[in-house]
Amino acid sequence: MKQLEAAVEIAKNAGAFVKGMKGHVRVSDKGINDLVTEADTKAQRMIEDALIEQFPDSRFFGEEDEKRDALDSESLWIIDPLDGTNNFTHTIPVYCVSIAYASKGTVLCGCVYDPERDELFSAQRGGGAYLNGKKISVTNSASLQQAMVSVGFYYDRGELMEKTLCSVQALFKKNIRGIRRMGSAAIDLSWVACGRFDAYFEYFLSPWDYAAGMLLVQEAGGRISDRDGNPFVLGSTGAVASNGRFHEEFVSMVKYSSVRNRFIE
Ligand code: IPD
Ligand code: CA
Ligand code: CA
Repeated sequence: MKQLEAAVEIAKNAGAFVKGMKGHVRVSDKGINDLVTEADTKAQRMIEDALIEQFPDSRFFGEEDEKRDALDSESLWIIDPLDGTNNFTHTIPVYCVSIAYASKGTVLCGCVYDPERDELFSAQRGGGAYLNGKKISVTNSASLQQAMVSVGFYYDRGELMEKTLCSVQALFKKNIRGIRRMGSAAIDLSWVACGRFDAYFEYFLSPWDYAAGMLLVQEAGGRISDRDGNPFVLGSTGAVASNGRFHEEFVSMVKYSSVRNRFIE
């Protein structure tokens, strides 16, 4: 669809622009440990200007937007101009641009561009998921014990972090193969879609972090739920994604509402 073609081209341009700024950007704090750089704000503007030129009716829900349109708008672009800002600020080469297109609360297509690896993940609802034009699919791992799991920590240093650590400990006790923390939710989801990770969870995310990634996982044959295992919707707070083969078991292990009783108190 023409929206996906446009998103791909614009994400690649924005990714190249962001990469060019790595190592020399002004950084400011949005919140504790929540950084914003000139690259975030300039890339956001660049993406929206390019989209509006091609699709004048566009509505926007971007991380760096001062005002955001409703998530159930028609012709809505959900944008994270730089996912992995903390990595980017420290010149760690794991960050990306994420652009999704939704109508009335359903994501119809999206892409994630990783400029460091020149990897473009794209998906259209009902049309499969692709990495640089080649069809991708989730892993076949049949059990959690064989799983390479990715985890994300929100910036919070309170309950969200404690529960995340409790779940990480529980997964290690289950003797899963390994846990990684990449620092970019859109890359985490893209890597579940292409089979580098078997599963991923994070307890607090915003729509711009996952709009494109959730479609990638679904179109690659995986499953995604919210942090309590409910059906995932645009607006869900956290995400639990997997290749689908051990999804219920994974959800039961990391389910947000059960973690406190089991481990913290
Ligand atoms: C963050 C990254 C990180 C995740 C945070 C997000 P940002 O996005 O995706 O991996 O753990 O929850 O907020 O701030 O770099 O766009
Ligand atoms: Ca983000
Ligand atoms: Ca961001």
